[in-house]
Amino acid sequence: MKPLKHLISILDTSSEQVRHLLDVAYALKDQFVSTGKNDPILVHKTLAMIFEKPSLRTRVSFSVGMTHLGGVPLVLSRDEVGLGVREPVEDVARVLGSMCDGIMARVFEHKKLTGLAKHAGIPVINGLSDHSHPCQALADLMTVEEHFGDLKHRTLAYIGDGNNVARSLAEICGRLGVRFQIATPRGYELPDADVKKIASKIKSLDYIATHDPIKAVRRADVIYTDTWVSMGQEAEKQKRLKDFTGFCVNESLLAAAPKHAIVLHCLPAYRGYEISAGVMEHPRSRIFQQAENRLHAQKGVLACLMAGR
Ligand code: CP
Ligand code: NVA
Repeated sequence: MKPLKHLISILDTSSEQVRHLLDVAYALKDQFVSTGKNDPILVHKTLAMIFEKPSLRTRVSFSVGMTHLGGVPLVLSRDEVGLGVREPVEDVARVLGSMCDGIMARVFEHKKLTGLAKHAGIPVINGLSDHSHPCQALADLMTVEEHFGDLKHRTLAYIGDGNNVARSLAEICGRLGVRFQIATPRGYELPDADVKKIASKIKSLDYIATHDPIKAVRRADVIYTDTWVSMGQEAEKQKRLKDFTGFCVNESLLAAAPKHAIVLHCLPAYRGYEISAGVMEHPRSRIFQQAENRLHAQKGVLACLMAGR
């Protein structure tokens, strides 16, 4: 298997590489859960982190993950770095590449990540862009696999906005042989061109799109949702809340799904909008296990990219 250089998008990784990232994550999780610590495989290594948008899970999982693996997390704020504003992306990349061992960046424009990767000479990790959120997708499929024991013939129903989270989920489901069934309001689908691109690169993609949430969950093993108003879309909030009426993952939608179906949400959640408070706390919600898995999945990414695992 070709070792992974960056994690910018699931589309750029092979099924084998995704499987390997998950296997390394499981091994590190097992080690941490059984012994309370991990081997210091990243000692003397520094991960520079740039956040152009707010974050709880991504920031904490990478910071704690680096610490558990013996490395140093270095959080840089948006204004401090001014990626492409205070100085060109290429210059930031070259400077960080000369002092650090990895870069994790959360950005608006996806092309800033590819720019960093092109010039840094060290691994670059996508900590969310307007386009995709691959680190989240890894933790999500890890949670599904842990719950069901395997991923074969599973169906994940995504209800809501055809956004960055949905795109990475479609890609990882394709890579791991999980059917991806998406229900969005009209006008909020994943763009056709993107779906075609994913299908052309991932031959095993099983992608079904609908505008009917009930139809989408009827045979689902996993029901997944995300905010209707992503970071950067605040000005569209009122229109979006109206357009997404009927797409809340609530008790009646859950009742339309098989009895074994679990519920996931990448968080932060807006109760009463994309998900009801009751479903958040439902016995079949695995949302907080999923959030914890960000830590374990991100350790897998760090170990593969920065410690050659
Ligand atoms: N799910 C997720 O990425 O959370 P944060 O925005 O808090 O990092
Ligand atoms: N789609 C959301 C995900 C947050 C983790 C956003 O981009 O804001």
